[in-house]
Amino acid sequence: MTLLVTGGAGFIGSNFVLDWLASSDEPVVNLDALTYAGNLHNLDALQGDDRHIFVKGDITDRGLLDRLLQQHRPRAVLHFAAESHVDRSIHGPGAFIKTNVEGSFTLLEAVRGFWTERPADDKAAFRFLHVSTDEVYGSLQPTAPAFTETHPYEPNSPYSASKAASDHLVRAWHHTYGLPVLTTNCSNNYGPFHFPEKLIPLMIVNALAGKALPIYGDGQQVRDWLYVRDHCSAIRAVLAGGRTGETYNVGGWNEKANVEIVHTICALLNQLRPSDAGPYERLITHVKDRPGHDRRYAIDARKIESELGWRPAETFDTGIRKTVQWYLDNPQWVEQVQSGAYREWVTQQYTTA
Ligand code: NAD
Ligand code: TYD
Repeated sequence: MTLLVTGGAGFIGSNFVLDWLASSDEPVVNLDALTYAGNLHNLDALQGDDRHIFVKGDITDRGLLDRLLQQHRPRAVLHFAAESHVDRSIHGPGAFIKTNVEGSFTLLEAVRGFWTERPADDKAAFRFLHVSTDEVYGSLQPTAPAFTETHPYEPNSPYSASKAASDHLVRAWHHTYGLPVLTTNCSNNYGPFHFPEKLIPLMIVNALAGKALPIYGDGQQVRDWLYVRDHCSAIRAVLAGGRTGETYNVGGWNEKANVEIVHTICALLNQLRPSDAGPYERLITHVKDRPGHDRRYAIDARKIESELGWRPAETFDTGIRKTVQWYLDNPQWVEQVQSGAYREWVTQQYTTA
């Protein structure tokens, strides 16, 4: 038995692979294009571990997908690979359409071809798990109920629109072809290996470097935050027990305004790494708002809780403390990511791939 994971060198995918192999001997084939967001150093702990088979490649490459599926015959495909940053999607939506829409389509087609030829028992047991976001549901009014799985899709950014498109493709491949799919729509993750272009790692890294902490607009935008390893445990629960064709919302019941998040990070850093220049709050700067900025996301996670018994292990207080501590303990990771040294290493390592 083997899993095929796409995007397993990114933030959530690498946490998933590490967690998976910490509790299971089932091998993982990890297909990742190593874009700027993919970092093999996230997987350093698996060096020399033959349960982890890394393949540098693109999910738009049908030939490669066919070969990998035939060679490894996975019992499940877990699809994390995506362009994931809203701000980048505003500046350059093309890559989001290419990977999130065309890549997901190519992967679905390759998997359908492989799955169709499987013996009946393997076919029934097979799963395609699509990792998606709560951003497909659009923006909530301040007092509106949280997103349930039946909330209409109203994506507002090129990123969320491309993820919504991929969710629709996954749904259609189930209804039309019978592919046994599962979709998870999760809220904002945070934790180790988070690329410092997203709010939480950016604020930690900038604060430590004495740089400005840029809050978009009034900073009253609300997100639900989930510690990444809780997302990973939710994905394991859905893979093991989710009903095919169903979607599961995953969230931490942690709605926070951005300003509150930034103040919490500053307070933790004041405690854990006080600065001679004074409290980190001095670095907070309000900057121009993001165009089309969604005001509020909130997840109603009752379905996954009641059907699959999943619960987050971390509160926001415990998760954010662990996260800040992780960045304090791993300055070399931050340095590699920022200097691009890991990308040079990859070019060297994979020039013939
Ligand atoms: P990430 O940007 O950190 O990682 C994405 C990974 O996909 C990278 O390793 C990258 O190299 C790889 N990749 C990109 N394009 C590829 C391609 N064409 N072929 C193969 N690999 C490719 O993203 P993340 O935050 O880890 O998110 C993973 C998934 O979870 C995404 O599908 C995202 O939409 C979803 N999600 C993220 C969050 C969040 O808060 N980060 C929340 C909910 C859902
Ligand atoms: P982000 O981490 O980019 O996630 P998403 O846009 O997918 O929710 O941003 C989280 C929130 O933080 C979002 O409301 C935008 C805001 N934000 C800032 O205020 N400043 C920043 O520098 C960044 C990156 C985000």
